Amino acid sequence: MKSKNYGEYITSYVISRLDLVMGLSRVVDLVNPFINSHHQRVAFIAGVIARECGLPETDVNDVVAAAALHDIGVVAEKEFKELANPEFAGHEYGHGYVGHLLFKNQNCFGNISQMIRYHHEKWNHGKASYDLGSKLPEGALIIHLADRVDIMTDRNKSALEQKAVVMEKIASMKGRWFKPSHVDAFMHIAEKESFWFNLEEPDKYRLIKRDYRFNTLVLGSGEILEISKLISRIIDFRCSFTSTHSAGVAKSASILAEMCGMDAESIRNMEIAGYLHDLGKLAVLPDVLYKNGSLNVSEQRMIKKHTYYTYYALNCFEIFDNIKEWASFHHETLDGNGYPFHVKGDRLDLGCRIMAVSDIFTALTEDRPYRAGMDKEGVISVLDELVRKNKIDARVVGVLKDNYQLINTERDKAQSAAAESFNNFLDSMQNKGIELYLEE
Ligand SMILES: [Fe+2]
Ligand SMILES: [Fe+2]
Ligand SMILES: [Fe+2]
Repeated sequence: MKSKNYGEYITSYVISRLDLVMGLSRVVDLVNPFINSHHQRVAFIAGVIARECGLPETDVNDVVAAAALHDIGVVAEKEFKELANPEFAGHEYGHGYVGHLLFKNQNCFGNISQMIRYHHEKWNHGKASYDLGSKLPEGALIIHLADRVDIMTDRNKSALEQKAVVMEKIASMKGRWFKPSHVDAFMHIAEKESFWFNLEEPDKYRLIKRDYRFNTLVLGSGEILEISKLISRIIDFRCSFTSTHSAGVAKSASILAEMCGMDAESIRNMEIAGYLHDLGKLAVLPDVLYKNGSLNVSEQRMIKKHTYYTYYALNCFEIFDNIKEWASFHHETLDGNGYPFHVKGDRLDLGCRIMAVSDIFTALTEDRPYRAGMDKEGVISVLDELVRKNKIDARVVGVLKDNYQLINTERDKAQSAAAESFNNFLDSMQNKGIELYLEE
């Protein structure tokens, strides 16, 4: 089958830049069980400091957006624990650099990649290191200050009670770590009880939405696909085998969608859903996710949460409404005994059925670190058995069987291409001396 170019703009999606940023920020916070809702809190703090400093509104918005995503380049528990240390000073080619690479070509998020890159940069009495001097973005310095304020404030105690201690610590770092005018702005804000009460407010999205005017974006489905690839890259950083798995599922699902007669826009959306289906795995501890051997009951429960989290994360992007169910129902079964929603066959539309088959097919055929992919006979007998037990759709499995060679070749090609681009990325990281702490 020839791959078709469906054109860039089949449909346009309208979304506020704030919703896009905050949705992605929630995804990033899924990875981070150690500093609960860190990104949302830093976005709030950085925004009020930027405004107090008198930055133009468009710059203030970029500071909020960059702050909501600043640690996106961190994916391993080890590094998160390091960040939670108030003395953490960052590295030139650390997670800020990784985050910058993710966003440098993504215009719809705003002018944020340089701020993310240098958010651990110290002011150092105006002689910031890395030879940036005056080119160091103001926003990066503000995010650095906001980030440290959040890390210093213990979530288990009343924020207001810690006011004096945090202010004193920040004052002692003035000039060395932070730009004096930023510290002065923070001191002015921190005098008010309302700042500390707002910091404890669980719904930062509401606060930010009320206080800032973000522009509205009109995105084509090609841009949505790019954003979904960006999100899947965050999963890639965590585990190299998942990275190629998502690409294999995306490819199998979009081919099956076309063969089953779905329209061009739905085919594109199936590809997007394939890239995102395992998004929720970000919220599951890698030790459990990649355990080689049988899982105990509590580990099984944790695994079952991954599709729930896929749903939860996509729920905050309205533009993903039609993609959300295709992505997150892939462990539901026709007999209603799947997980986690126990959705029955009458609620599982063609897209959901194709995704479930694509996920199983890809998982069986792909090579994994501890075993080679299964051959055709083995795969077909597993799929037939699942059809017989009323778990997956007979028609979709029939289409797959009729076109097995073609679909399997395309899947394999897509996974090899994903592996290659992932390895190139790892090489460029290694050249910069960046350790990604990949889980094997
Ligand atoms: Fe950071
Ligand atoms: Fe941070
Ligand atoms: Fe999967």
